[in-house]
Amino acid sequence: MTDVTREFEGRPALVTGASSGIGRQVALTLASLGAPVTLTARRAEPLDLLVSEIRGAGGEAQAVVGDVREERHAAEAVRRTVDAYGGLTILVNNAGVIGAGPVESTTTEEWDRILDVDLKGPFLICRAAVPHLKDRPGATILNVSSVTGRRPYPNLAPYCVAKAGLDMLTKCLALELAPHGVRVNAINPGVVRSNLHTATGTVPDYEAFLTRCKETHPLGFVGQPEDAAELIAFLVSDRARWITGGLFPLDGGRELTSLR
Ligand SMILES: NC(=O)c1ccc[n+]([C@@H]2O[C@H](COP(=O)([O-])OP(=O)(O)OC[C@H]3O[C@@H](n4cnc5c(N)ncnc54)[C@H](OP(=O)(O)O)[C@@H]3O)[C@@H](O)[C@H]2O)c1
Repeated sequence: MTDVTREFEGRPALVTGASSGIGRQVALTLASLGAPVTLTARRAEPLDLLVSEIRGAGGEAQAVVGDVREERHAAEAVRRTVDAYGGLTILVNNAGVIGAGPVESTTTEEWDRILDVDLKGPFLICRAAVPHLKDRPGATILNVSSVTGRRPYPNLAPYCVAKAGLDMLTKCLALELAPHGVRVNAINPGVVRSNLHTATGTVPDYEAFLTRCKETHPLGFVGQPEDAAELIAFLVSDRARWITGGLFPLDGGRELTSLR
């Protein structure tokens, strides 16, 4: 049996969108397994609290505040990881936003906001990171996509399109980077308890929303950030060394149904 307790020691990780939800839990998990982690998001305060929490538990972490839509921020996040930790081994593209509404009332600004954060953001960070990942032992990219990338939903067109694009980006980069030993995978979660839906301001009663969502997930419950962090920790480890270009459902069976 492989001892996985310190399996990311010497493997610097960059996790985007680490100020809450899935990204926060991924950062905690990777750090607890020995990875020095760079945490990014726009809000400084939750990132600073998380850095303190990780350091308090004996791990290594730093925060880089910024917006994933900006080239400058992508370059800075990668550079500061390399400067502080001597390289970059694990990139987790997790930052994301959602927006809901019928197409006729979706503004151009809303379309751009979702596509820019959820698709252009991962592209910008991948582009900055790839020169450092190539030919580095254990190098890997993990994209946090969504079940919405794999099947359509009404009133979610920009989000579905962005996540479908992220799935294709995952597969293109997997092929492009395989000769350099870099693995690229994505996970496709169903509904996970986090700030994603409340941040839109269109979900007034989140608990009622989650209760409704249980019915659309055949296993009968929604996910927790820990469910995503477990799968991600496996996929970015050497235990998954033969896996690349994979899109992994993490949705209690939701993709298989026609339920909304
Ligand atoms: N929760 C779900 O049901 C679910 C399902 C499928 C897929 N996902 C995906 O999971 C990922 C994580 O979402 P979550 O559920 O954990 O939601 P969350 O709690 O809202 O976390 C989203 C993270 O992204 C960051 N972020 C948003 N816009 C950003 C920007 N422009 N620049 C930099 N960072 C930005 C947020 O930080 P700041 O606000 O501080 O910038 C936050 O840290 C997303 O890609 C989402 O699409 C979630």
